[in-house]
Amino acid sequence: MSVVPAPTRVSAGPTAAELLSFALRTAADPEIVDSLPLDPEGRTWMRLDGPGGSEAWLIGWPPGTGTGWHDHAESRGAFATARGRLTEHSLTVRLPAEGWRSLVLAADVDRERALPEGTGRAFAEHHVHEVLNESPAEHAVSVHAYYPPLPLIRRFSRNGPALTLEHVERPADWQ
Ligand SMILES: [Fe+2]
Repeated sequence: MSVVPAPTRVSAGPTAAELLSFALRTAADPEIVDSLPLDPEGRTWMRLDGPGGSEAWLIGWPPGTGTGWHDHAESRGAFATARGRLTEHSLTVRLPAEGWRSLVLAADVDRERALPEGTGRAFAEHHVHEVLNESPAEHAVSVHAYYPPLPLIRRFSRNGPALTLEHVERPADWQ
Protein backbone atom coordinates (compact mmCIF):
# COMPACT_ATOMS: atom_id res chain seq x y z
CA MET A 1 0.00 0.00 0.00
CA SER A 2 1.34 3.41 -0.88
CA VAL A 3 0.58 6.63 0.87
CA VAL A 4 -0.14 9.55 -1.41
CA PRO A 5 0.63 12.90 0.15
CA ALA A 6 -2.14 15.44 0.13
CA PRO A 7 -1.68 18.08 -2.57
CA THR A 8 -0.12 21.25 -1.29
CA ARG A 9 -0.68 24.70 -2.71
CA VAL A 10 2.43 25.70 -4.55
CA SER A 11 2.03 29.30 -3.53
CA ALA A 12 -0.14 30.47 -0.65
CA GLY A 13 -1.76 33.85 -0.55
CA PRO A 14 -4.77 35.29 -2.36
CA THR A 15 -5.74 33.80 -5.72
CA ALA A 16 -6.12 35.95 -8.83
CA ALA A 17 -9.90 35.71 -8.38
CA GLU A 18 -9.59 36.99 -4.82
CA LEU A 19 -7.40 39.86 -6.00
CA LEU A 20 -10.00 40.73 -8.62
CA SER A 21 -12.73 40.66 -6.01
CA PHE A 22 -10.69 43.09 -3.88
CA ALA A 23 -10.05 45.36 -6.89
CA LEU A 24 -13.73 45.48 -7.88
CA ARG A 25 -14.87 46.05 -4.31
CA THR A 26 -12.36 48.84 -3.78
CA ALA A 27 -13.14 50.43 -7.15
CA ALA A 28 -16.77 50.66 -6.02
CA ASP A 29 -15.83 52.56 -2.84
CA PRO A 30 -16.01 56.29 -3.64
CA GLU A 31 -14.35 57.27 -0.37
CA ILE A 32 -11.17 55.42 -1.34
CA VAL A 33 -11.30 56.25 -5.04
CA ASP A 34 -11.87 59.96 -4.48
CA SER A 35 -8.96 60.16 -2.02
CA LEU A 36 -6.45 59.81 -4.90
CA PRO A 37 -4.93 63.15 -5.93
CA LEU A 38 -5.29 63.59 -9.70
CA ASP A 39 -2.73 65.40 -11.84
CA PRO A 40 -3.63 66.44 -15.40
CA GLU A 41 0.07 66.21 -16.32
CA GLY A 42 0.77 62.63 -15.32
CA ARG A 43 -0.24 59.43 -13.59
CA THR A 44 -0.64 59.39 -9.81
CA TRP A 45 -0.34 56.47 -7.40
CA MET A 46 -1.45 55.68 -3.88
CA ARG A 47 -0.63 52.51 -2.00
CA LEU A 48 -3.54 50.51 -0.57
CA ASP A 49 -3.73 47.69 1.95
CA GLY A 50 -4.11 44.64 -0.26
CA PRO A 51 -5.66 41.41 1.04
CA GLY A 52 -3.47 38.61 2.38
CA GLY A 53 -0.14 40.40 2.06
CA SER A 54 -0.70 41.46 -1.56
CA GLU A 55 0.60 44.69 -3.06
CA ALA A 56 -2.16 47.09 -4.04
CA TRP A 57 -2.34 50.49 -5.70
CA LEU A 58 -4.83 53.13 -6.69
CA ILE A 59 -3.69 54.71 -9.97
CA GLY A 60 -4.91 57.86 -11.73
CA TRP A 61 -4.58 58.16 -15.51
CA PRO A 62 -4.92 61.47 -17.32
CA PRO A 63 -6.26 61.23 -20.88
CA GLY A 64 -3.72 59.72 -23.25
CA THR A 65 -1.47 58.10 -20.65
CA GLY A 66 -0.42 54.46 -20.50
CA THR A 67 1.99 52.06 -18.89
CA GLY A 68 3.93 50.81 -21.88
CA TRP A 69 4.47 47.08 -22.32
CA HIS A 70 5.57 45.24 -19.16
CA ASP A 71 5.13 42.03 -17.22
CA HIS A 72 4.86 41.18 -13.52
CA ALA A 73 7.32 38.29 -13.24
CA GLU A 74 6.02 35.58 -10.90
CA SER A 75 3.16 37.66 -9.51
CA ARG A 76 -0.46 37.10 -10.37
CA GLY A 77 -2.79 40.03 -10.14
CA ALA A 78 -5.94 41.88 -11.04
CA PHE A 79 -7.13 45.38 -11.75
CA ALA A 80 -10.46 47.16 -11.98
CA THR A 81 -11.53 50.48 -13.44
CA ALA A 82 -13.10 52.80 -10.87
CA ARG A 83 -13.52 55.92 -13.04
CA GLY A 84 -13.45 56.40 -16.77
CA ARG A 85 -12.44 53.63 -19.11
CA LEU A 86 -9.17 51.78 -19.65
CA THR A 87 -7.94 49.64 -22.52
CA GLU A 88 -5.64 46.68 -22.08
CA HIS A 89 -3.43 45.26 -24.82
CA SER A 90 -2.07 41.87 -23.82
CA LEU A 91 -0.20 38.88 -25.21
CA THR A 92 -1.45 35.32 -25.05
CA VAL A 93 2.07 33.91 -24.95
CA ARG A 94 4.41 33.38 -22.04
CA LEU A 95 7.80 34.98 -22.62
CA PRO A 96 11.07 33.21 -21.78
CA ALA A 97 12.16 34.26 -18.30
CA GLU A 98 15.80 34.95 -19.05
CA GLY A 99 18.41 34.93 -21.73
CA TRP A 100 16.85 37.05 -24.44
CA ARG A 101 16.86 40.67 -25.45
CA SER A 102 14.54 40.77 -28.43
CA LEU A 103 12.07 38.39 -30.01
CA VAL A 104 9.48 38.32 -32.77
CA LEU A 105 5.91 37.61 -31.74
CA ALA A 106 3.62 35.33 -33.71
CA ALA A 107 0.81 37.01 -35.62
CA ASP A 108 -2.10 35.86 -33.47
CA VAL A 109 -0.94 36.61 -29.92
CA ASP A 110 -2.35 40.13 -29.46
CA ARG A 111 -5.53 40.75 -27.54
CA GLU A 112 -7.39 43.97 -26.74
CA ARG A 113 -9.85 44.39 -23.92
CA ALA A 114 -11.99 47.39 -22.99
CA LEU A 115 -12.45 47.97 -19.27
CA PRO A 116 -15.18 50.51 -18.62
CA GLU A 117 -15.97 51.73 -15.12
CA GLY A 118 -16.95 48.90 -12.78
CA THR A 119 -15.19 46.15 -14.72
CA GLY A 120 -11.88 44.42 -14.13
CA ARG A 121 -9.75 41.47 -15.04
CA ALA A 122 -7.53 38.98 -13.26
CA PHE A 123 -4.29 37.61 -14.68
CA ALA A 124 -1.90 34.77 -13.97
CA GLU A 125 1.86 34.81 -13.50
CA HIS A 126 3.96 36.13 -16.41
CA HIS A 127 1.11 38.21 -17.83
CA VAL A 128 2.40 40.70 -20.43
CA HIS A 129 0.36 43.81 -21.15
CA GLU A 130 0.06 47.54 -21.49
CA VAL A 131 -2.81 49.54 -20.02
CA LEU A 132 -3.97 52.81 -21.55
CA ASN A 133 -6.47 55.58 -21.00
CA GLU A 134 -7.37 56.33 -24.60
CA SER A 135 -10.01 58.90 -23.72
CA PRO A 136 -9.29 62.35 -25.14
CA ALA A 137 -10.90 64.08 -22.16
CA GLU A 138 -11.72 61.85 -19.21
CA HIS A 139 -9.40 61.01 -16.32
CA ALA A 140 -9.46 57.34 -15.33
CA VAL A 141 -8.80 55.76 -11.93
CA SER A 142 -8.13 52.07 -11.30
CA VAL A 143 -7.33 49.65 -8.49
CA HIS A 144 -4.51 47.08 -8.87
CA ALA A 145 -3.45 44.16 -6.69
CA TYR A 146 -0.57 41.69 -7.02
CA TYR A 147 0.53 38.59 -5.14
CA PRO A 148 3.27 37.95 -4.33
CA PRO A 149 4.19 41.63 -4.01
CA LEU A 150 6.00 42.57 -7.22
CA PRO A 151 9.67 41.52 -7.10
CA LEU A 152 10.29 43.27 -10.40
CA ILE A 153 8.67 44.53 -13.58
CA ARG A 154 10.26 43.91 -16.96
CA ARG A 155 9.66 46.77 -19.41
CA PHE A 156 9.51 46.17 -23.13
CA SER A 157 9.36 48.24 -26.27
CA ARG A 158 7.25 47.12 -29.17
CA ASN A 159 7.82 47.68 -32.86
CA GLY A 160 5.20 45.69 -34.75
CA PRO A 161 5.86 42.04 -33.93
CA ALA A 162 9.28 42.81 -32.41
CA LEU A 163 9.38 42.93 -28.62
CA THR A 164 12.56 44.17 -26.94
CA LEU A 165 13.43 44.02 -23.26
CA GLU A 166 14.38 47.58 -22.29
CA HIS A 167 14.96 47.43 -18.55
CA VAL A 168 14.02 45.77 -15.31
CA GLU A 169 12.42 47.83 -12.54
CA ARG A 170 12.77 46.84 -8.89
CA PRO A 171 10.55 47.89 -5.97
CA ALA A 172 13.02 50.64 -5.05
CA ASP A 173 12.14 52.29 -8.36
CA TRP A 174 8.47 52.77 -7.54
CA GLN A 175 8.38 53.32 -3.77
FE1 LIG B 1 0.67 45.67 -15.29
